[in-house]
Amino acid sequence: MKAWIVSDIGAPQEVIAPGEREQPVPGPGEALLKVGAAGLGLPDVLMCRGKYAMSPPLPFVPGQEVAGEVVAVGENCSYAVGERVMGVTAFYHGHGSFAEYCIAPDFSLYPIPHGMDDNRAAGFTIPYHTAWVGLVERGALAEGEVLLVHGAAGGSGAAAIHLGKALGATVIATASSADKLAYAAAQGADHCINYADADFVAAVNEITAGRGADVVYDPVGGATYERSLECIASGGRLLAIGYASGRWGVADGRTLVARNASAIGVYVGAYGHEQMQGCHAALVELCAAGRLDPAPETVIGFDELGEYLERLAGRRALGKVVMAL
Ligand SMILES: NC(=O)c1ccc[n+]([C@@H]2O[C@H](COP(=O)([O-])OP(=O)(O)OC[C@H]3O[C@@H](n4cnc5c(N)ncnc54)[C@H](OP(=O)(O)O)[C@@H]3O)[C@@H](O)[C@H]2O)c1
Repeated sequence: MKAWIVSDIGAPQEVIAPGEREQPVPGPGEALLKVGAAGLGLPDVLMCRGKYAMSPPLPFVPGQEVAGEVVAVGENCSYAVGERVMGVTAFYHGHGSFAEYCIAPDFSLYPIPHGMDDNRAAGFTIPYHTAWVGLVERGALAEGEVLLVHGAAGGSGAAAIHLGKALGATVIATASSADKLAYAAAQGADHCINYADADFVAAVNEITAGRGADVVYDPVGGATYERSLECIASGGRLLAIGYASGRWGVADGRTLVARNASAIGVYVGAYGHEQMQGCHAALVELCAAGRLDPAPETVIGFDELGEYLERLAGRRALGKVVMAL
């Protein structure tokens, strides 16, 4: 089968190349999928760089997110050949979705809802499940509250804007350029701050008349995370989603106490499949009601993958990018 194969550790375009690889065989509880579309995310870049905790040994095929058709199953797999499914691959075994076929464990898969195309389904599971667990389960975002989304033009950030608006929040988006902010505004953000040329803390405090944001959704980490405590409301929740900046932030205990604020970790992988079924069903309902549309911003062909991973690495991608096969 054709596949993008990572054969060394380094910058994506230097270490990943298209090639031929044997079609993998599903083990117990696993399905072999014919890939319809694959979602790109920063973790794929981090795996190329050898900076992701669940990186498989070299050489490997990356690609965490997939939508496709079940073409073979291992023992006790709960899906049947012919079913259309979406979810997270066995990338940690090197059988990711940047290929014609990939492996996925059944506990990471969900049936593709009627009417959802592969491109939408491929970029759905990780960003929207994370947004749901972050905003609803962990962050308890209420209608009318103020949600601050960092990295708002990235894949995780855009999903948080969509869900935040669907839940009735006022959304403040931050990003590093004018085109990213135009994109965040088009996704529904009510206020946009360019943190490359304005202090986002001062801007959030001004927008909220000094009250601050009730919930902060932070896939960026580092100083962005730490400084967010300077513009969080009393009783606010600071959600640690990711570390796109290269390091996790550290929440200052004194400020947390002064504001009765909470620093909360968000990791979808630690939620059980049964719990996630409920989250998934609620998200699918929002899509069916037309309150959420997971359309990716960019759909690329197989040959363009290396270039787009490099764009993600260089902060040059907008929203979700999906590779269609
Ligand atoms: N907790 C979970 O369950 C979970 C789930 C999904 C993803 N994540 C994590 O969330 C993070 C973001 O993932 P993603 O797929 O949303 O990434 P993405 O689409 O690339 O978006 C990340 C955003 O972070 C900002 N950023 C700041 N410094 C950066 C840097 N040095 N390099 C790249 N981007 C930088 C960029 O926006 P600006 O240019 O506007 O600053 C970029 O748009 C990753 O750390 C990922 O592992 C966690």
